[in-house]
Amino acid sequence: MTQNPEDHAARFTEVAEEYDDDSSEEYLACASGVIEAAAPEPDDVVLDLGAGTGAIGLALAEDAGRVVLRDLSEGMLDQAREKIADRGLSNVEIGEGSFREPNYDGPVDVIVSNFALHHLSDEEKREAIRIWAAYEPERIVLGDVMFFEEPDPSVSFFSPDVDDPATVGTLVEAFTDEGYAVADVQRVHDQVGVIVTHRIGEGDIVPGAE
Ligand SMILES: C[S@@+](CC[C@H](N)C(=O)[O-])C[C@H]1O[C@@H](n2cnc3c(N)ncnc32)[C@H](O)[C@@H]1O
Repeated sequence: MTQNPEDHAARFTEVAEEYDDDSSEEYLACASGVIEAAAPEPDDVVLDLGAGTGAIGLALAEDAGRVVLRDLSEGMLDQAREKIADRGLSNVEIGEGSFREPNYDGPVDVIVSNFALHHLSDEEKREAIRIWAAYEPERIVLGDVMFFEEPDPSVSFFSPDVDDPATVGTLVEAFTDEGYAVADVQRVHDQVGVIVTHRIGEGDIVPGAE
C-alpha cells in the first residue's frame, strides 16, 4: 500500500532537517550512479523529480546549464534552498511539483530521479514515465529501490506501508513503451538499482522492430 502524495510530502517534511545525516551505503552508491550517468553538457537543462534536499540536482548544477528541482515536500525543498544559497548557485530553479505534475513546461535534456519513484504504485509509475517522456529528454536516469529478484524480507530498503517498489522488468518495460532504450542497468543491491535510458531517435536501429 502507498500513501497519497500529501501524506508523503508531510512525512518527508517532518524528517527534512535530518534527512542528509542518514544515508546508507547503497543510497550513496545509487546517487553516485545517477550523477555519473546523467553527465549533462554545459548547455543542458536537467530536471530532477522527487529532488528532496537536492542531492542529485545540486551535484549536477556545476556541469549543467540549468537545473530544475521539483518535489512535493516544502520541508525538503527548504533544505535544498539553503544549500543553493550556501553554494551561491545561480542556475537552479526550485519549486513544488510532482512526478505526474512536474509544474514545469520548458525544455529538458536530462531527467533524473533518485530514491523516490517507489512511492507510487506501478500503474502510477508508468503514468509518470509517460509524462517524463513527453518532455523528450535525451536521457532519463532513474535510481531507486527496485527488485532484481524476490526481495529478502530480512534486508529491506522499503516499508510496505508507504513504499511500493517495482521489479526491474516492469520499469524497463515502462521506459521502452515510451520510446526510451535502456542503455545500462546497474545493480547496486538486489533491491536497489540505476536504470539509464536514451531516447530512441529516427534512424536508430531497434532490435526486434519491424
Ligand atoms: C527518499 S527522498 C529522495 C530525495 C532525493 N532524490 C535524494 O536522492 O536524496 C524521496 C523524495 O520524494 C518525494 N516525493 C514523494 N512522492 C513524490 C511525488 N509524487 N512527486 C514528487 N516527489 C515526491 C518526497 O517528498 C521526498 O523528498
